[in-house]
Amino acid sequence: MKKQNILIDDLEFEPLISHEQIQGRISELADQISRDYKGKVPIFVGVLNGAILFMSDLIRKLQIECEIDFIKISSYGDKRVSSGAITMIKDFSADLHDRDIIVVEDIVDSGLSVSYLKKRIESMKPSSVKFVSLLVKKDCAVVPLTVDYIGFEIENKFVIGYGLDIAQKKRNLSAIYQIIEK
Ligand code: IMP
Ligand code: MG
Repeated sequence: MKKQNILIDDLEFEPLISHEQIQGRISELADQISRDYKGKVPIFVGVLNGAILFMSDLIRKLQIECEIDFIKISSYGDKRVSSGAITMIKDFSADLHDRDIIVVEDIVDSGLSVSYLKKRIESMKPSSVKFVSLLVKKDCAVVPLTVDYIGFEIENKFVIGYGLDIAQKKRNLSAIYQIIEK
């Protein structure tokens, strides 16, 4: 069955990555992380709100023990461009000292969130910090960054669904849709 485009006011979105493709890629990432962290118990830190769907599917496919925590930082607000400035809205609950930390992001765009989090986590003296992001926008990073595990590299276009929002809506779509630029 052909997936339908989605209309939100005057904006139109087309299907980009299906639910099946997302699940297939998450299984591969989970296998790779399980191999890399064999015998360890990493803490997966989900970046709210966008990472919740990805994180819950990812941890269920792991073959290792893990713990979870969440943080919330400000990002786009209701606009479709990054404000640049980042503030912490909900801080870590877990003690990260001497632990293996894997930060779980929905999407890396400018890379500002990732570089902010990396600095902050490193100040808490963990034994290691890595980043996993379901999506990375190509050629977007304004700061040098490393995302250790990447689900899909996508064009520099606005996307929604599977955790990603437009003005807080549409996070509950099970596939990812990309804006049609007119
Ligand atoms: P960055 O700090 O510019 O890398 O952006 C990080 C955050 O911006 C992500 O975690 C998302 O919450 C949000 N974001 C970036 N691009 C998109 C998009 O295309 N759709 C929805 N949210 C996005
Ligand atoms: Mg986010």
